[in-house]
Amino acid sequence: MQDYREFLAEILVSTETMQKRIAELGVEISNDYRGKDLLLVCILRGGVFFLTDLMRQISIPHTVDFMAVSSYGVGARKSGAQARLTLDLNTDINGRDVLLVEDIVDSGYTIEAVLELLNTRHPNSLRVCVLLDKVERRETPVPIDYRGFTIPDKFVFGYGLDIDEYYRNLPFIAVLDQSRYLGE
Ligand code: IMP
Ligand code: MG
Repeated sequence: MQDYREFLAEILVSTETMQKRIAELGVEISNDYRGKDLLLVCILRGGVFFLTDLMRQISIPHTVDFMAVSSYGVGARKSGAQARLTLDLNTDINGRDVLLVEDIVDSGYTIEAVLELLNTRHPNSLRVCVLLDKVERRETPVPIDYRGFTIPDKFVFGYGLDIDEYYRNLPFIAVLDQSRYLGE
C-alpha cells in the first residue's frame, strides 16, 4: 500500500477545523433534542469516526446503534439507485427520536434508502446529520438537517472515508490526486 502523501492533492478539512465544527454541531444537537430520547444511528463503516467525535460533543443522554448498507451500485465512483442492507439495527426505533449520522452524501441514494427503511418502523422523528455534503453530485434530493461542510466534487479520503478500504484512519479530510494513485 502506498503512503498517502504520494497521492495527496491537498488537505481539504484540517483536524482542527473539523473538530471545531463537530463541537458546534454537538451543541446544536444537544439543544434541539433536550428532553427527548435521542438515538444516533450510524451507517458503517465511514460514519464511525464522525459519530464518536460527535457523541463526545453531545451533552444530553443518548444511545447509539449501527447499520450497514452495501456499496453496490452506490458511491462516488459508481452510479445507480440500489442500496442493500447488510447489517440491521438491534434497537427498536418505534417512537424514538432518531438522528442518522453519516460521513458523506454524494448521489444521495444511500441516505434515501436508509430513510425509507427507517420510516417504515415509525420513529417519533427522523433526521439526518452528515459531516460532508458533495452537493453538486446529488442525483436524488435528501433532507439534511445538520451539515458539517459543503465540499466540491472531488474524491476525498481520511476521517472514515476510504480509498478501497484504506486510509480511513487519517485525522483530516484529504483530496485524492487520481493521477498519482496506483491502479488508476
Ligand atoms: P451516495 O449514496 O452516492 O450518497 O454515496 C454515499 C457513500 O459513498 C458514502 O457513504 C461513502 O461511503 C461513499 N463516498 C462518496 N463520496 C466519497 C468520497 O469522496 N470518498 C470516499 N467515499 C465516498
Ligand atoms: Mg459511507
